[in-house]
Amino acid sequence: MPKQSTRAIHGHDYEDDVGAFKPPIYQTAIYEHPDKLTGKPRLSDRGFDLKYSREENPTVRALERILAGLEEGLDSLAFGSGMAAISAAYLSKLETGSRILLPKECYGATQELAQNLGKFGVECLLARSDTGEFLEKLDKGIALALIEPITNPMIRVVDVEEIARRCRELGIPLIVDNTFSTPILLNPLKYGAWISLHSLTKYLAGHNDVIGGAIIVEDRETLQELWNWRRKLGSILSPFDAFLIIRGISTLEVRFEKQCRSALEIAEHLRDHPKVEEVYYPGLADSPYKRVADKLFRKRLYGAVLSFRVRGGQREALKLLGSVEIVKPAPSLGGVESLLTYPIWSAAKNMNPDQRKELGITENLLRLSVGLEDVEDLREDLDRALSQI
Ligand SMILES: Cc1ncc(COP(=O)(O)O)c(C=O)c1O
Repeated sequence: MPKQSTRAIHGHDYEDDVGAFKPPIYQTAIYEHPDKLTGKPRLSDRGFDLKYSREENPTVRALERILAGLEEGLDSLAFGSGMAAISAAYLSKLETGSRILLPKECYGATQELAQNLGKFGVECLLARSDTGEFLEKLDKGIALALIEPITNPMIRVVDVEEIARRCRELGIPLIVDNTFSTPILLNPLKYGAWISLHSLTKYLAGHNDVIGGAIIVEDRETLQELWNWRRKLGSILSPFDAFLIIRGISTLEVRFEKQCRSALEIAEHLRDHPKVEEVYYPGLADSPYKRVADKLFRKRLYGAVLSFRVRGGQREALKLLGSVEIVKPAPSLGGVESLLTYPIWSAAKNMNPDQRKELGITENLLRLSVGLEDVEDLREDLDRALSQI
């Protein structure tokens, strides 16, 4: 099988009779009726009806083939956002009386949506993001579990292999949100996850200019089930956004590798900085997560997001946020631009002080998503901003 970077470029398998090199944007809502004489339905390459772009679209299909190849899955489904993908996954597995287990430290809307399903009788249980406590809370009565291999904003690494193994033993479908780790570091299906899920908005699209989501599956039954939910929720990705994401993915490996390498350099630099109290990054030699990261992640890469505490409190953190110039103060991650985020305003926005304290989200904590700028420029920008606090 071709290697990952080859699959990222050629894995759309698109062919037509004009020899178009790139999958075109099929900007159509509808397709002609089946053959009038035979009545044979027009089918997409995977056998689903091709009649309406809320169900199937050839540009979206091209992206889905690439994603399935990158994650070594059977197939995939692309959605209008990461949250649309999560919604479909929840709806397919949860019903009145179901219990879902999530980490306390996980993407806010992922957690909120599960809690909102309480009004339909779904119970949302939360476990600390450490592998140990998550494993302890797993039991046969749980209908669905979700983990993020790299947590946000404390950048802990969770042992996907152990958790997936236990979920398999107990028959619990496990969603692995692989957004921060990307298929470059990790393929969750390999460990037995039920599905791998992405906010394509981040590294896969990679340019902070498009919103999208995806689920990669390894069995036909799950594909059909989630396809039905996507159709009914109306949450398929648009053909133009699929085109942009296909273009983004063709450079994923080089972008992500450089971003990871720059992140390690910046983490090491900040760790020794007198204005910085502590740095959280699994690639640091003394990180408590280095061992599990080395076990799970390929290429000795550790992701491109790090968090750190500045000396002082909220005043100093906000001063830094306002003083960076190349690095932009903004939420999100994974794009070409480096972004500095204040978790109290984003990831921890809906947490009360006790919840924040339990997770270590203090008022002097900042999160940095490292982009593709020259790493020396980034270091100098951070140093200059730090000298002003
Ligand atoms: C880990 C993770 N999962 C899911 C999402 C939701 O994705 P989207 O914003 O594309 O809906 C995000 C968004 O930040 C995220 O960070």
